[in-house]
Amino acid sequence: MKLLLSNIQQLVNVREETSLLRGEALGILPVLTNAWLLIENGQIESYGLMGGAMPQAEEIIDAKSATVLPCWCDSHTHLVFPASREEEFVDKLKGMSYADIAAKGGGILNSARKLNETPEEILFEQAKLRLEEVMHLGTGAVEIKSGYGLTVEGELKMLRVIRRLKQWAPIPVKATFLGAHTYPLAYRDDHETYIRQITDEMLPVIAREGLADYIDVFCEDGFFSTDETERICRAGKGWGLKPKIHANQLNLSGGVQTGIKMNAVSVDHLETMDDGAIRALASSTTIGTLLPTAAFFLRMPFQPARELIDNNCAVALASDYNPGSSPSGNMNLVVAMSCIRMRMLPEEAINAATLNGAYAMEVADIVGSITPGKRANLIFTRPIPSIAYLPYAFGSDLIDRVMINGAFI
Ligand code: NIG
Ligand code: FE
Repeated sequence: MKLLLSNIQQLVNVREETSLLRGEALGILPVLTNAWLLIENGQIESYGLMGGAMPQAEEIIDAKSATVLPCWCDSHTHLVFPASREEEFVDKLKGMSYADIAAKGGGILNSARKLNETPEEILFEQAKLRLEEVMHLGTGAVEIKSGYGLTVEGELKMLRVIRRLKQWAPIPVKATFLGAHTYPLAYRDDHETYIRQITDEMLPVIAREGLADYIDVFCEDGFFSTDETERICRAGKGWGLKPKIHANQLNLSGGVQTGIKMNAVSVDHLETMDDGAIRALASSTTIGTLLPTAAFFLRMPFQPARELIDNNCAVALASDYNPGSSPSGNMNLVVAMSCIRMRMLPEEAINAATLNGAYAMEVADIVGSITPGKRANLIFTRPIPSIAYLPYAFGSDLIDRVMINGAFI
């Protein structure tokens, strides 16, 4: 079945071939003005300029001057969780710190307690609603982490929920095992026992059941040390899981260098960077995934995107959707915030949130750009004067419709 989209004002991120973008290449966003796009069986077939010969198709849709972009590729989320945590948000407004909240059993441990009490079915239904919401906000591929179980049963339950989301969702979903999100209270002073649960009890089952694509560790002072991170990554790699790790959020944790040493697909967060970490990232194939809405929500310094890009690091943008540090999976806001607060240019932000995000979860062969053979996962905007208007008008809902696999949702 062939579907022809006509009268597209701007067809954005059009590429015959793709590669991971870094440095100046990140600022180049190829656009066709006044274009058509042919879709066959849910995949991009070809494109061209209006005015010349157009291909035949069973169905023609007039895009009516919409700008059409590839859907956002959100490569870092924790969107399976049992409950929101707005009471902690209010405590923080009243002056409590992240550490104060953690000390009274809040934060990740609060979510973990509730997750272990919540049936799989309910977790699935809640997460499905969140996934539906972000698809309507333009997300066309997503990575989802475990990490609110922190027990063998809890982590497996989360990963089984993610497996059901993979089966249910029409978009690509990648699963990451984050058993090493924090130490459960009982193992605060006995790291060895919990690490052994991860390596000897959780990982073999996860691998046998094919429950995860990646392994993640929260490498941070007060959480997992660089040595512990390396040990857990090696164990995961032994079971075929590539690392994608939380690094340098709160401190210069050494997480960036450890991730690179472990050949991580990505190191994520990067609020706290120094020259050594930037140089190491620039000379590696590891992607730096920036999560500006987490920095915003926690009132932390934003990631040094300009320095990273100008020093030739490959960067992606993601939402970090989770109940504690980014209770939003809205990638439109992520893109706007990266421009407004991190001085990324609109072209850089769109590339980082589409193609580089696809690379950061290894789905760039099927999504992330307007490329023949890729899925027709597309955002149709309301009429906008230019691409820069998207991050500029940050508070407006500029998405008219979203298409997944060639069909409007
Ligand atoms: O990516 N930094 C660690 N984990 C999450 C926050 C988890 C939580 O507070 O629930 C993050 O920001
Ligand atoms: Fe995260």
